[in-house]
Amino acid sequence: MVDKATPPQEPVLVADSERFTKLKDAFISKYGAPPAFYARAPGRVNLIGEHIDYCGYAVLPMALEQDILAAVTPTQTNLIQLANTNPVYLDYHVHISEIHIETAKPQWHHYFLCGFKGIQEHFDIIASGMNCVVDGTVPPSSGLSSSSALVCCAGLVTMVANQKVLSKVEIAEICAKCERYIGTEGGGMDQSISFLAEKGMAKLIEFNPLRATNVKLPKGAVFVIANSCIEMNKAATAHYNIRVVECRLATKILAKGKGVKWENLLKLGDLQTELGVSLETMISNVEQILHPEPYSREEVCQHLGISQEELCSTILSQNTQHVTTFKLYQRAKHVYTEARRVLQFKRICDEAPANALQLLGELMNQSHTSCRDMYECSCPELDQLVDICIQSGAIGSRLTGAGWGGCTVSMVPTNNLNSFLMKVQEVYYKADVQRAALHTHSLFATQPAGGAAAYYEA
Ligand code: GLA
Repeated sequence: MVDKATPPQEPVLVADSERFTKLKDAFISKYGAPPAFYARAPGRVNLIGEHIDYCGYAVLPMALEQDILAAVTPTQTNLIQLANTNPVYLDYHVHISEIHIETAKPQWHHYFLCGFKGIQEHFDIIASGMNCVVDGTVPPSSGLSSSSALVCCAGLVTMVANQKVLSKVEIAEICAKCERYIGTEGGGMDQSISFLAEKGMAKLIEFNPLRATNVKLPKGAVFVIANSCIEMNKAATAHYNIRVVECRLATKILAKGKGVKWENLLKLGDLQTELGVSLETMISNVEQILHPEPYSREEVCQHLGISQEELCSTILSQNTQHVTTFKLYQRAKHVYTEARRVLQFKRICDEAPANALQLLGELMNQSHTSCRDMYECSCPELDQLVDICIQSGAIGSRLTGAGWGGCTVSMVPTNNLNSFLMKVQEVYYKADVQRAALHTHSLFATQPAGGAAAYYEA
């Protein structure tokens, strides 16, 4: 496996030339000369394994054709100058010694700065300034990882601009870590698939150590993405971090219940490793030790023998200080059952039994139900869209990404694709004026795309 995210030594002709040409023109009109190089990082769709990466469990995404593409020239000015081909995203510049990453209401350039800062800190260098124009095709706030694609693209750009070399695994890990400057405590799925993806392959992404294994998707079906048209920016709300904290608390209370040292345990997956038992046993542990009624702060503190102050300073994160109740049973049950579904999905893809599509579809449906009822990361529009997708001929359908809005992913028999697309358009998009205005970009079939790369012109 080629494990370098570095550009090829020989200049390669840039692909998708119309888009590159437009970007090059935009760059020239902004900065007066062509860019030194380009870099792209793709968005992703997660097929199964939602909200379990930050618990240490494997996930199963694939990269999208949609990506963030940047044109760049390093400079001696100590300035980062950013422009975007989409006029919604305003120009921005900052001196490299004055980088500040906003967590309350992050704007597009803050994600770029995360990647820049991550590389700068990893190499302990004062990174070079740069002129940059960004062109994005990943729909924003739609659960397709537009923000991580931007962080990854910025990380790659900064690495190349400073003539540094990292393996794909290394840069993916750096980008997963530095995106947390924005305030969300994400797992590493989005950044990992953005770098480790290969054309034509979904990937099982495992953590600690980070690695990716090819998953050959079954013949006879395509994966279709449908946008609920409800925007969800996970950095703008506390939903995501609340789930991270609930999983952390569930880990600690389960550990205490099993008589294991709980103080340093943070992830449900680490607890399973510590106990050395199966996922089935972890599911029974949840049922025996946790109760379905929400836990109050007092109860959590009592269980762990800690004060409210300790809870706030050592377990809760900055934007979860206000939370008063925690649904530990439901969150932990989702995580352990979802982790099991991912392994089952991979096994079915590997073994390809005659009823593979049926079995995979059932797993996707179960995943959605668990996200909706146990993890409560769906929303009425996503639920409605999943139902419509199933009624329109999908074998399986589920929300993808963080949830609370964004997209669904459906597995559709190839020979039903056209009628599926027509029906979903009719029932979900055309029936609503606002959605109808957007629907051409909101519903599309997708194939696994390749991972992040840098390009030079010949
Ligand atoms: C976001 C995060 C990922 C992952 C998903 C939910 O995309 O960035 O790390 O947690 O949500 O599966």
